[in-house]
Amino acid sequence: DYLRDEDVTQETRDLISSLPKEKGWLVSEIYQFQGRWHTQALLQGILICQKRFEAKDSDIVLVTNPKSGTTWLKALVFALLNRHKFPVSSSGNHPLLVTNPHLLVPFLEGVYYESPNFDFTGLPSPRLMNTHISHLSLPESVKSSSCKIVYCCRNPKDMFVSLWHFGKKLAPEETADYPIEKAVEAFCEGKLIGGPFWDHILEYWYASRENPNKVLFVTYEELKKQTEVEMKRIAEFLGCGFLEEEEVREIVKLCSFESLSNLEVNKEGKLPNGMETKTFFRKGEIGGWRDTLSKSLAEEIDRTIEEKFQGSGLKF
Ligand code: A3P
Repeated sequence: DYLRDEDVTQETRDLISSLPKEKGWLVSEIYQFQGRWHTQALLQGILICQKRFEAKDSDIVLVTNPKSGTTWLKALVFALLNRHKFPVSSSGNHPLLVTNPHLLVPFLEGVYYESPNFDFTGLPSPRLMNTHISHLSLPESVKSSSCKIVYCCRNPKDMFVSLWHFGKKLAPEETADYPIEKAVEAFCEGKLIGGPFWDHILEYWYASRENPNKVLFVTYEELKKQTEVEMKRIAEFLGCGFLEEEEVREIVKLCSFESLSNLEVNKEGKLPNGMETKTFFRKGEIGGWRDTLSKSLAEEIDRTIEEKFQGSGLKF
């Protein structure tokens, strides 16, 4: 876990002792809470978030399954919302050039885990935050207020492969001997961190169809294929007002994989929790899973996708 377990409180440990648990990949144990599998640390962050976070109508919450394009979405929406304060054209001093996107957009349950008393009321309006929390487990005020949710979904095979490599970088020793077959099996049983991945995606998918003014559903693949079109869709959904074509182009360029991944801050930098910023940038491609998954493992994930997304209208 990139959030260390040392600071897990007795209260969380007591709750955890009553939860179903499994041996985890990457971490020794994961726990099932409200239908999802979490590490101790993230579970504590979610519990605090549910108790303390009060959404405002003007808030914007970016939601993803891990490794589905969080870093990219954070950069794009940050640049969009701040385009007057920090014009991208005078990009010599844009915050994204010197700061990793994760430090510009707070990660709700991560911040609450590290600082349980963190005061989100001080963030400039509109407040922009991100989370991996499932729709079911969102703090009540996020659902009941008029705050906006942008959900980014990614092809599950690419998401799995991205997570697999991320885990190897984060914890080379713990993951060294773990067979990929076992990780795919856990992924397909829904027992990988944050899983089942299909519930996460489907809950936000249906929420976006029921309430399109509240939840915008975008995909990593569409973002990649037509970033400018998707950017305009996001801007319209967020009510950002008129956008010059040039502004859109500049934002897309600044936030591209090539641009962000080559910045010093994203090659050599570290987050306050010690994580290297370069771990968030690997290939940034569609279909990169082919390098890592054998035909039979890809088919195993495909069967799960077929079964779980049948009838939903979502295709991968
Ligand atoms: P890969 O491991 O497939 O390369 P997250 O930000 O949710 O942790 O997801 C990380 C994935 O997004 C990684 O995928 C990473 O390379 C990719 N990524 C990061 N920044 C990106 C960008 N600006 N454009 C496209 N993909 C990006």
